[in-house]
Amino acid sequence: MTSDLDQHLTRHLAEATEAVAAVVDLDDLRALDAELLGKASVVIEARRGLAAMDAEQRKDAGRRLNEVRAALEHLLAERRSTLEAEARAVTLEAERLDLTELDTGRRLGHRHVVTQTWERLEDIFVGMGFTVAEGPEIEDEWHNFGALNFPPDHPARDMYDTLYVDHGEPGSTLLRTHTSPVQIRVMESTEPPIYSIMPGRVFRSDTADATHMPVFHQIEGLVVDRGITFGDMAGTMDAFTKAYFGREFTSRLRPSYFPFTEPSAEFDILRDDGSWLELAGCGMVHPSVLQAGGLDPEIWSGFAFGFGLDRLALMRHGIDDLRELFRNDHRFLSQF
Ligand code: DAH
Repeated sequence: MTSDLDQHLTRHLAEATEAVAAVVDLDDLRALDAELLGKASVVIEARRGLAAMDAEQRKDAGRRLNEVRAALEHLLAERRSTLEAEARAVTLEAERLDLTELDTGRRLGHRHVVTQTWERLEDIFVGMGFTVAEGPEIEDEWHNFGALNFPPDHPARDMYDTLYVDHGEPGSTLLRTHTSPVQIRVMESTEPPIYSIMPGRVFRSDTADATHMPVFHQIEGLVVDRGITFGDMAGTMDAFTKAYFGREFTSRLRPSYFPFTEPSAEFDILRDDGSWLELAGCGMVHPSVLQAGGLDPEIWSGFAFGFGLDRLALMRHGIDDLRELFRNDHRFLSQF
């Protein structure tokens, strides 16, 4: 073997060693593999030169070439397994499961904070002499809107981003946007005097943010009796909030508009940061609504209210983001 060829191969091996070490991804390594061992590689070129050598030289050069090729193969294989291990580690990290949530200690589960609130509200109102009623989540247009004095195509319907159900005539079936339709169902099925609350799940095509969810909960209230006044309503709302929050709370009634009540108001409470949070809509039941429920407005009068149940839970527990209630992270939920 000529010393030229020997030096050439030694230099090549040194350069290849550096090049292999510098490669950081598997695709680049495959390209380098082709370059170092493929048809146009230094080793193959050199092998072609063997033909021109005499037998002795050819034997030495051949052995040297085999050594160099084996060394290159070894370098490449080593680097490949290192890079593959790194890639696996990256995938594992990305797919890692958070096992800190697995707790071997036994712990009793408990009701969700929304369910707890729901039950607490029922208890308070039952204590005030109310009965509890429920209605369907899939409603017809009449109960959700028509009977509540929303004329067809009335802009007040736009206050609710309604989710319609593909059933019957287009627009005739929907996911109830509020619990107010249960007022109508209660009037249809019950002789006054009526003192009822109607908790339930409601739906709107809303984007989730800190104070809105597309699925949330309300608790409706309806009182129908003889000679009911706005003062009865204000007193009931006040008694309820005091019972629920367990302490003095600053609240206000602010004039508002709902088609099913006249006059209408909004019930706000004062937050720690000095801002007002709207907790409920309320008002005196509109005569057309009493009529839609089959009651004579000359005889009966009443008031109604609708509280955001989730907001009541937030306020009571000092939670500042409604979405927390629905993330179902037990580390959060176990606090309540
Ligand atoms: N249904 C109304 C809403 O979801 C809230 C409401 C307002 C209910 C006034 C009432 C009421 O019963 O009288 O926005």
